[in-house]
Amino acid sequence: MSNHQIALTVNGRQCPLSVAPETPLLFVLRNDLALNGPKYGCGLGECGACSVLVNGRAVRSCSVTVGACENRDIVTLEGLANGDVLHPVQQAFVEKQAAQCGYCLNGMIMAIAGLLNRIQAPDEADIRSALKNHLCRCGTHMEILAAARRAVELSCQSETGAA
Ligand code: FES
Repeated sequence: MSNHQIALTVNGRQCPLSVAPETPLLFVLRNDLALNGPKYGCGLGECGACSVLVNGRAVRSCSVTVGACENRDIVTLEGLANGDVLHPVQQAFVEKQAAQCGYCLNGMIMAIAGLLNRIQAPDEADIRSALKNHLCRCGTHMEILAAARRAVELSCQSETGAA
């Protein structure tokens, strides 16, 4: 693999890199850009811990190459909040205390953020579908579902200005 000049846009910043285009996006985010929100779980696209948003959609960054992400808008967990104001999904996870070891949390949060980008008011089936392939070893699923439902409420309130 030989290096190429690749310009990534991550969390609204241009990030010029010299990297082999076949490199998994996750490796570049963590190793080159020091963005450790996305986690290395399985490295096989199975667990969801590495999820980021690419053009608003939740994507497993271990399974997409950095070359495929050029000229796309990448958002990691670090870029989700608006300054000091948490994203509704982050706020919901804090309110519902939906973390145990926390390793899966990045993927859960990014999956729901991506869902809210696709569907303004997702229902229970939408939420469960978005989370169904995200693994949590601690068994915090009920709290995570509660946080996801709360995120939908908060997001709808912010859309209507009722927050
Ligand atoms: Fe990417 Fe598990 S580390 S899906």
